[in-house]
Amino acid sequence: MIARFKASFHQTGKLIHLNNGGLAPITAQARDKIKFWADRFYKEGFFTDHDYVQDVLHSRKSLATLIGCDHSEVAFFQSTASAVSQLAMQFPLEEGDEVITWAEEYGSHLFPWQEACKRRGANLITVNSLANLSTPIDLLIEKITPKTKVIAVSWVQFLTGAKTDLEKLSAVTKEKDIFLFVDIIQGLGLHPFHMKKWGVDAVAGGSHKWLFSPVGVGYLALDQKHMQMIKPHNVGSYTFGTCDDPTDSVCEPKFDALKFEAGSKQVLEITALGASVDLILSTGVEVIEKETLRLAKKLRTGLEEKGFSVHSPYERDFHTSAMVNFIPNPQTISKLQSLSCNYAIRGPGIRLTPAAFNSDADIEKVLSIL
Ligand SMILES: Cc1ncc(COP(=O)(O)O)c(C=O)c1O
Repeated sequence: MIARFKASFHQTGKLIHLNNGGLAPITAQARDKIKFWADRFYKEGFFTDHDYVQDVLHSRKSLATLIGCDHSEVAFFQSTASAVSQLAMQFPLEEGDEVITWAEEYGSHLFPWQEACKRRGANLITVNSLANLSTPIDLLIEKITPKTKVIAVSWVQFLTGAKTDLEKLSAVTKEKDIFLFVDIIQGLGLHPFHMKKWGVDAVAGGSHKWLFSPVGVGYLALDQKHMQMIKPHNVGSYTFGTCDDPTDSVCEPKFDALKFEAGSKQVLEITALGASVDLILSTGVEVIEKETLRLAKKLRTGLEEKGFSVHSPYERDFHTSAMVNFIPNPQTISKLQSLSCNYAIRGPGIRLTPAAFNSDADIEKVLSIL
């Protein structure tokens, strides 16, 4: 299974992709899907109407399967930031309410909540992780007060891969009637996830990392039980019906997550995302996770053997993240560049993020040059 997955990526050995937690290459299936629709739009124009709508629906269903929710609960956006903004700006926060988040969150998650709190007179409570950047949920739970309305965190932190234990956290948020929102971009497709089973109220993410699809798609999944509470942030024809419906100033928004998609969609990007998600589903997330963690462990132990200090919330033998963040020496960056190996400068050091499509040779080349 993993061999078929690896074979779905462009492998020449010339470029080494180790910034997959930043922007990963797309699958051959995603590339072919874009070519397919580009060709049909070129030749058939409006005659494609029925078929492309069906293919967008297919992508929505596949993504919902990966998230663990119903497809009617999923809405597509242009980025994670716009999906988070939809929820944060429309969440019924009142003056004095509190929203809890981690202090090291990525801007596309942090700033929408910061802005929503500012506009409504609510308070954003940022919680520092421990010195090794681990994120035990007790630190969040300590900050809960009667005014806490939302806990909004990333599942996997973008700096080091520290995971928040969502199943345990949701037991607490449910009991205290707190809304649990999670940015899952750094984990979906890489680690098994189940929104409904885990009791998460809403999630958001994007296409260009562990879903191996083109940059330019964000998604929001909102549990149907909250659907009436969250109003559409952007509105247009598709909020109410389709482009063929007559204008009606009293029309009611749709009753599912489609009400959040105000207008026409990025068909090429969304259908390409569906093609990559289908590959992930047919390979199995557990299989992808196992291979990714094997490569990450090989990289981490190799770096440590060479004397690099790895900044990680995990013990060396229990490294359960794709992210390997290490402290570079003065030559590290130029050596990585000489190998055409990409990387990210993140938080305390250099972040390398192998994916399941990488080869052992990729890791060995990097270790030998460093
Ligand atoms: C935690 C997290 N959220 C979101 C994003 C992406 O946000 P957007 O799709 O708005 O660019 C990233 C990385 O790019 C990220 O690491």
